Amino acid sequence: MSSVHPVQVIAVTGGKGGVGKTSVSINLSVALANMGRRVALMDADLGLANIDVLLGLNARKNLENVLSGECSLRDILLTGPGGIRIIPASSGTQRMAQLGALEHAGLINAFSELGEQIDVLIIDTAAGISDSVVSFVRAAQEVLVVVCDEPSSMTDAYALIKLLNRDYGMFRFRMLANMTRTPQEGQALFNKLTQAAERFLDVTLQYVGAIPFDENMRKAIQRQKSIVEMAPRSKAAMAFVQLAEKVDKWPLPSSPRGHLEFFVERLVQPESAD
Ligand SMILES: Nc1ncnc2c1ncn2[C@@H]1O[C@H](COP(=O)(O)OP(=O)(O)O)[C@@H](O)[C@H]1O
Ligand SMILES: [Mg+2]
Repeated sequence: MSSVHPVQVIAVTGGKGGVGKTSVSINLSVALANMGRRVALMDADLGLANIDVLLGLNARKNLENVLSGECSLRDILLTGPGGIRIIPASSGTQRMAQLGALEHAGLINAFSELGEQIDVLIIDTAAGISDSVVSFVRAAQEVLVVVCDEPSSMTDAYALIKLLNRDYGMFRFRMLANMTRTPQEGQALFNKLTQAAERFLDVTLQYVGAIPFDENMRKAIQRQKSIVEMAPRSKAAMAFVQLAEKVDKWPLPSSPRGHLEFFVERLVQPESAD
């Protein structure tokens, strides 16, 4: 039942809504797929802007239907741009934390099978610091915190990092700046966040880079496409390609922690801090 190779699990988070978590999740997924990586993208946000809708796809079922035994994980997967596999999770995300033993085992099996078919799993989390967000972030190996140059984005990102550090012992985070207006802005945001975090918390932040503000992002959404497909030469699309190249060089998790069934195990056992 164990998958043969580790899968990189990356949670895209940030505390605040509207900072670009979903945009980053989609475009990073497509850019990685264009590099030949097999990518699954999990929509773990209950909000209105579901990934399937943003990409002009129509999810009729989601993880909730898998949890209730109506269908298998394979049945709910959608195929998006670049061949990325999309897992519509929506209402299933809240139930994840309250599964019975059988459901639990079923889900682990399902993800273990998926793990054989993918190299990377990207999880788009909801805004805020609900239990569901925390459980996805804790279960992932890499946490990508998206921030933009707004006071509330910085304070929300800090609050999220603080909670994950103090209550769950997480100490390693990566920060991506989004919607930057100048080349210096991303690094400046990082310096601000890392100063506060390293002073008051026991954490290490790593700067991943910046995605510039780009009007094409809005246009891409209107056309229900990723910017990486719609305007590959745009500033933002090129920044996403650079981001994907960096992500691709992140160290792979050492097994067995890196196997997808263990990701699900961590996910459905919210009490067991590790
Ligand atoms: N780099 C960017 N440049 C311009 N607009 C952006 C950029 N990133 C995101 N946006 C826009 O910001 C809005 C919020 O993005 P979204 O990805 O839905 O945020 P979140 O998932 O964090 O709530 C969307 O309208 C999106 O098109
Ligand atoms: Mg979102």
